[in-house]
Amino acid sequence: MASSADQPGNPITAEEFLRHVLRSGLVERDELQASLRQVPREQREDPWLLAEHLIRYGKLTRFQAGRLLKGIAQGLIFGPFRVLAPIGKGGMGKVFLVRDMRSQQLVALKILPPKLARAEVRMMARFRREMELSQKVAHAHIAWTYEVGEVRGVPYIAMEYIPGRTLSRIVNEDGPLKPTRACRLMAEVASALSHAHEQGLIHRDLKPGNILITPRDQAKVLDLGLALIEGEIVHDAMVVGGQGYIVGTMDYIAPEQTLDAASVDPRCDLYSLGCTLYFALSGQPPFPGGTSKEKIARHRREQPVPLATLAPHVPAGLIEFVERLMSKNPDDRPDNAQQVEQELRFWATGEEEIARESEEEISFDETVVVQQGTASADLSAISLPEFEITPLSLLDNRRATGLWSTNAVALLMASAACLFLSAMVVILLILLTRR
Ligand SMILES: Nc1ncnc2c1ncn2[C@@H]1O[C@H](COP(=O)(O)OP(=O)(O)O)[C@@H](O)[C@H]1O
Ligand SMILES: [Mg+2]
Repeated sequence: MASSADQPGNPITAEEFLRHVLRSGLVERDELQASLRQVPREQREDPWLLAEHLIRYGKLTRFQAGRLLKGIAQGLIFGPFRVLAPIGKGGMGKVFLVRDMRSQQLVALKILPPKLARAEVRMMARFRREMELSQKVAHAHIAWTYEVGEVRGVPYIAMEYIPGRTLSRIVNEDGPLKPTRACRLMAEVASALSHAHEQGLIHRDLKPGNILITPRDQAKVLDLGLALIEGEIVHDAMVVGGQGYIVGTMDYIAPEQTLDAASVDPRCDLYSLGCTLYFALSGQPPFPGGTSKEKIARHRREQPVPLATLAPHVPAGLIEFVERLMSKNPDDRPDNAQQVEQELRFWATGEEEIARESEEEISFDETVVVQQGTASADLSAISLPEFEITPLSLLDNRRATGLWSTNAVALLMASAACLFLSAMVVILLILLTRR
């Protein structure tokens, strides 16, 4: 661990750092004092070592400590949530791992950054739609929305935290998936779509980056940010999309969605599912490279490199099915997501058991630290003399003074009462002896 002297351009002192810790509201004063008692004297003036200690003691996450060392104490508590670490970022939202202090549960909190909300009015309108629509679905393969709300004008969606990797990350890092696994995962996605479609929702942004794979190797569909209610009358094409205003992700967008995003039916999601399956099996989207305009033209008119060329091990019948999903004309695609699920389950049969990733292995180290307080055991084993907590006594003058004055006043009052009583006894004795 580098000492503060090694941290260029960061002149924060230990005292300032501890002040920020208290100001953040993440750690109570008593709690902070107790954990700092374990810090060896020679390390107490070094904010970086203090931060490292608090991280190892489970009092701060690395992300929180990093912010506090930069002098940023605000924003680490968001309504009832404690912000533990950032976990994702898309075109619209920022997603944080947070702890809900009402239930102590870990939650994924998606917010619309105020800067973005201010810069683009349609972003706020889209986020509000997502807040509303995300509550219309409830399915094992769709990230569960616990609640939506607003804190100091910042809207949020609190969701089930899924400690996995997106399908795009998995394929980019580990290579294409085995056909049986790809089909089982995409069958789960199809079941999620089937549910959304039954509720009248069309996702319109299905893609590998919007599918999380859990440590138990289950697919969870995310992000209803561009969802459309079937048959909805669109008032604002800038928000919902429409003629001349395309919404979607160009690598996975259905041709008809590029023509009029507001008049699509659920089969546009089946096209995107086909492109996603193409990516999962081959490692690349159907039309890689090029500009958005070129991609749109290709989705409308061109055929991708045959899957059989890129992934010769994939059964011919499955390749045919993927091509059907990616038909330019929606009428040539399967009728609905339920049919797609059934077909994919068929191609998934015989899937070998794969080594599931252990939940702990892939969770963020911050989480592990927060949950288990990993190093607290070895630290508490070092017995240290009690010490007057120099930096802490300077921490919060207001509170420190408050505490001291409360004690002092109590002491003074007690002494005064004793004096008063003694005086009364003496007076009484004098009066009695005189009589
Ligand atoms: N419930 C969740 N659990 C864990 N990570 C999530 C969750 N929701 C989103 N993420 C992460 O955040 C990223 C962005 O989320 P997403 O909802 O797709 O935002 P955007 O609308 O900005 O695209 C995702 O790709 C994923 O990595
Ligand atoms: Mg997204």
